[in-house]
Amino acid sequence: MSSRSSRSPKLQGLISLLLCFLAAQARERPPNINPNRHPAASLKPDIFKCLKPTQKPEGKQSIHHLLCFISTRTMQLDPFLAATVAACLLLHLLLLRLSRKSSSSRLPLPPGPRGVPILGALLVVGPDAHRGLARLAHHYGPIMYLKMGTSGCVVASNAAAARAFLKTHDAQFANRPDVVSARDITYNRQNMVFADNGPKWKLLRKLCSLHLLGGKALADWAPVRRAEFTHMVRSMHRAAAEGRPVVLPEVMVCALANIVGQTVVSKRVFDAQGDESNQYKDMIVELLTGGGLFNIGDFVPAIAWLDLQGIQAKMRKVHRRFDAMVTKLLEEHEATKDERKGRPDFVDTIMANRQGEGGETITDTNVKAIIFDLFTAGTDTSAVIVEWAVAEMLKNPVILRRLQEEIDSVVGRGRLVQESDLPKLPYLHAVCKEALRLHPSTPLSLPHFSFDDCEVDGYHVPGNTRLLINIWAIGRDPKVWDAPEVFDPERFVGGRTAKIDPQGNDFELIPFGAGRRICAGKLMGMVFVQYMLGLLVHSFDWKLPEGEELNMDERFGLVLPKAVPIKAFVTPRLAPQAYI
Ligand code: HEM
Repeated sequence: MSSRSSRSPKLQGLISLLLCFLAAQARERPPNINPNRHPAASLKPDIFKCLKPTQKPEGKQSIHHLLCFISTRTMQLDPFLAATVAACLLLHLLLLRLSRKSSSSRLPLPPGPRGVPILGALLVVGPDAHRGLARLAHHYGPIMYLKMGTSGCVVASNAAAARAFLKTHDAQFANRPDVVSARDITYNRQNMVFADNGPKWKLLRKLCSLHLLGGKALADWAPVRRAEFTHMVRSMHRAAAEGRPVVLPEVMVCALANIVGQTVVSKRVFDAQGDESNQYKDMIVELLTGGGLFNIGDFVPAIAWLDLQGIQAKMRKVHRRFDAMVTKLLEEHEATKDERKGRPDFVDTIMANRQGEGGETITDTNVKAIIFDLFTAGTDTSAVIVEWAVAEMLKNPVILRRLQEEIDSVVGRGRLVQESDLPKLPYLHAVCKEALRLHPSTPLSLPHFSFDDCEVDGYHVPGNTRLLINIWAIGRDPKVWDAPEVFDPERFVGGRTAKIDPQGNDFELIPFGAGRRICAGKLMGMVFVQYMLGLLVHSFDWKLPEGEELNMDERFGLVLPKAVPIKAFVTPRLAPQAYI
């Protein structure tokens, strides 16, 4: 296997380090700027604030701010420092040019924006990266190459491009980039989600599939899902009786975390939805939001230690809390192992199967890291889809009524939906697929990585390049989807797109990814989404608080939830005994 680094990125990293050191030095000095002297003087001292998630500057504006910032600051440096900055910049540009020329391939790189020195195209992409990259793809095409800091990044934005990378070159791109943000939260990549394509990843994936996420294991754990989702409906029924609104993502995440907790460590992690489960939800949301932000340190590794956006510090803090929770869970698990004789949970099973065929061993750290994977990847992802589906139906009550009628006709009004009803509910499937298309939970999938050079669709893709699949843009491609911005489940009922399936074979719709790194929990995810949505719309009518408008903004991160969670009053629509 090739090495992750090459000389040119190292040198460029060094130069970036120098530049950023100088910038940091300048930051240390008091601004001391006469506001009347320079147009850039009105800038806030810390321009890197423009990259924080809550603010949404336009890409061009950000570049302008950055250049003004550098020029303002450079003017405050002494002449020697200013000359060094200029020399570094020149050297950086020269290296960029040389690295393009020195490639052994005669093929061109895929097209893409050039960006600015050091940061490359980072600022061009903007804070909502899925939308920014989709905009760029309109201009540059479905396969783009962007220099992001010192790292190369290739982006696939339509079905054919995704197929080229995830089918034709699947093995080559089946690694993950070694990014500092992931390292901090995944016990130094000892988990499955961020492991490279190697024996450890294969062993972890096999164990998860056999004992938790595959078809048979999924069927074995059905009673746990039924108990927890019934519990969720009852708690909503109580809220209705007491005239309290329901915060939808909170009740769902509480149920999902309890399902994961019971199957993984035989523990309902939250007795009831309340402060503790809300804190857990916040923790997951912080991890998933922070994990998806474009962290400058991930793209210019030499300056990662500066943590310019403050992302790493925040992630480390949340990770410490998460680790404390997992450590406590594992201590309790060990203390109660005699109580589980004959009915092992997932952790019992992997502890008993630590040894892989090729001599690989699952360590205690791997166990913690895989628990981290299952709680993070297994809870918010499904809740996000269901929340968007409910939001779209609140906007369009005709769809909601049609879905309720379908479920009434199969289940009646005397009991709750059960998993065994799901195959008989085609319109429910259509609504779920439409939510997965329009609001995929991980808009840019998880990043992939290739160590070696390769040729894709007539382009040269250099080694040490990361791959982003713009799942969000693929689901809105107007060449495939009629009126792509409209939530219309009908497109999965009849017509030319009806048969498109989201489970990884049809590249026009890949909310779970595709190829060998496809979501390990896609079967479970589909069941979670269909079962929860079926229960929620069949059991209740929905109403927003008086005078409140539905906010449809999204918040970008590794997952793409609604920026403002749904808070609604629910009214029971089934016979009273159904809720007992
Ligand atoms: C609707 C729900 C879900 C969606 C949309 C979803 C989506 C995804 C996506 C897009 C990926 C990245 C694929 C790639 O790298 O190409 C992924 C990976 C993964 N997902 Fe899911 N997921 C969902 C539910 C779940 C559940 C319920 C679990 C487990 C409890 C899970 C566990 C994982 C794991 C372990 C990976 C990493 C696989 C690997 O790197 O080999 N996911 N998921």
